[in-house]
Amino acid sequence: MSTPKFTTFRKLWPSLWPQCMPGVRWRVIVASAALILSKIVLLTTPLVWKYVVDDLLANPKVIPYTLILFYGAARLISSLFSEVRDAVFAQVSQRALRQVGVKVFDHLHRLSLRFHLDRQTGGITRIIERGTKSIETLLTFLTFSILPTFVEIVLVCGTLWWFYGFSFSVIILVTMAAYIFYTLKLTEWRIHYVRSMNTNDNQAQTKAIDSLLNYETVKYFSNEAHEKNRFDAALRQYEIAAVKSKISLSYLNIGQAFIMSLGLIAVMIVASRGITQNTMTTGDLIAVNIFLIQLAVPLFNLGFAYREIKLALVNLEEMFHLLDEPQDIKDISNAKPIAFHGGKIVFDNVSFAYQSDRPILMNLSFTVPAGKTLAVVGTSGAGKSTLSRLLFRFYDVSAGSILIDNQDIRHVTQTSVRDLIGMVPQDTVLFNDTILYNIAYGRPDATQYEIEQAAKQARLHDFIQSLPQGYETRVGERGLKLSGGEKQRVAIARMLLKQPKIFVFDEATSALDTRTEKEIQENLKVISNHHTTLIIAHRLSTIIDADDILVLEEGQIAEQGNHETLLLKGGLYAAMWQRQQSQQNNDQSYA
Ligand SMILES: Nc1ncnc2c1ncn2[C@@H]1O[C@H](COP(=O)(O)OP(=O)(O)OP(=O)(O)O)[C@@H](O)[C@H]1O
Ligand SMILES: [Mg+2]
Repeated sequence: MSTPKFTTFRKLWPSLWPQCMPGVRWRVIVASAALILSKIVLLTTPLVWKYVVDDLLANPKVIPYTLILFYGAARLISSLFSEVRDAVFAQVSQRALRQVGVKVFDHLHRLSLRFHLDRQTGGITRIIERGTKSIETLLTFLTFSILPTFVEIVLVCGTLWWFYGFSFSVIILVTMAAYIFYTLKLTEWRIHYVRSMNTNDNQAQTKAIDSLLNYETVKYFSNEAHEKNRFDAALRQYEIAAVKSKISLSYLNIGQAFIMSLGLIAVMIVASRGITQNTMTTGDLIAVNIFLIQLAVPLFNLGFAYREIKLALVNLEEMFHLLDEPQDIKDISNAKPIAFHGGKIVFDNVSFAYQSDRPILMNLSFTVPAGKTLAVVGTSGAGKSTLSRLLFRFYDVSAGSILIDNQDIRHVTQTSVRDLIGMVPQDTVLFNDTILYNIAYGRPDATQYEIEQAAKQARLHDFIQSLPQGYETRVGERGLKLSGGEKQRVAIARMLLKQPKIFVFDEATSALDTRTEKEIQENLKVISNHHTTLIIAHRLSTIIDADDILVLEEGQIAEQGNHETLLLKGGLYAAMWQRQQSQQNNDQSYA
């Protein structure tokens, strides 16, 4: 476990003491006041004890009802104040939790695709989950155990000094200091044992699960005895670690008890001497005794609290690291929204690499005039989808520039560029929600009529109507309950709903049968007519009408022209066309 830094806690501070939320600040103030009041009231109880004892000793026949009632009332009021503190503070800590959680989430959406592809989503959500939970742990232990204990120590020392003189408060102070010092040191030493106990526990569990998952394999080889031994070995490690952890806890407890007893002995000796010298009463002796014992109760869990806080700080730090992750696709300062004048797209000498040692696009130049259609074809991995990702500014080019209507897309705001473009990606992933939600995602304020209209254009409406739950059908995790073609049509429908100015279709109909594909192509043609369109396709029959066709080979333009000129040229495109035609003829003869 790395040593947590204090700066981590400082980063949390703005959420606990927010500049612009006086309400939260008031809550912190009220909670602190309630904390101090509850401790002050609690402090009176040993003193009441003193008077009860002294009264009884002086008048053994009279029961001091008032004092006894006062004692009960003081205990009650003290707990009332501490409940008030909890209730008032609950909102502060939960608000901080929410604020930090949302901030991290928002930041994650600002980070680039590059960051997200490099990280496992599961890993990130675990970091956020552990991080936000640790805010709760941290605040709980600080406000419910550490802070109250310190307030109590200070108040007790002050009271003893006031009522009984300097020596008692010195004894208490020294005892507490020794107690805390010892607890922290020993906890530090013990952490190693506790952690090894936890890791061994995890390992034993993993082995058990893995073994049971491989149930059949175990049987194939009759390896039950082997599995049993492996599990037993893992458990033995746990056993050893658990015993060590328990023994180390005993050391901690013995040491704590030793220090506390020394303190008590010292207090009692000084108090007894006070009695013999007539400066103190028996009641006083009992009161100072109670003061010390009362302090010991919350301190008993100090080691545990310390360990939890330390762990929470480490988790929190991990989460804050995510916030420190720089944004690599950023708007330049005072970037303006892009101005649209028809949507001419220019790739000017563009080079690009995902990793610097493997170039994907090399010195690529082409122009799509406003309102025209460019098709890009080429072998798998040639860099076709990469073109669309660059246009959408998921990545910045390594050299050259991309211009829309003569504006470099790096010099305008990202959102304005993305708002222009309607993209049907190669792989559609859907939200785990209803079909309606997924289509409406294209424009959340769209009416039901508009949504159905888009679904009709994407040849999806009839299918949805045939489902028992219609538009309310849930699509499952990532949309896996829909077929590939259905998912693609949802993607088309939601893109249509967005009503973009520029269209990008990356194999948008590749998962559909030829007839449905034809129907949708017709619709898309009508809709994207007079809009700049970039089509990436494998099936050449879908792009014969394109104004211009690029054949991309290993990140470079191998051929360019319209369908007829490329066929006449007799190069790569013509060969691809030939192959696909004969394939289609074969398919038809089977059908
Ligand atoms: N995030 C990434 N990190 C590293 N390399 C990547 C990344 N995305 C794609 N690539 C690589 O870049 C190359 C071009 O990918 P791209 O997706 O543009 O191919 P494509 O032409 O669309 O292929 P397909 O027809 O199979 O969709 C591929 O070799 C791919 O392995
Ligand atoms: Mg692709």
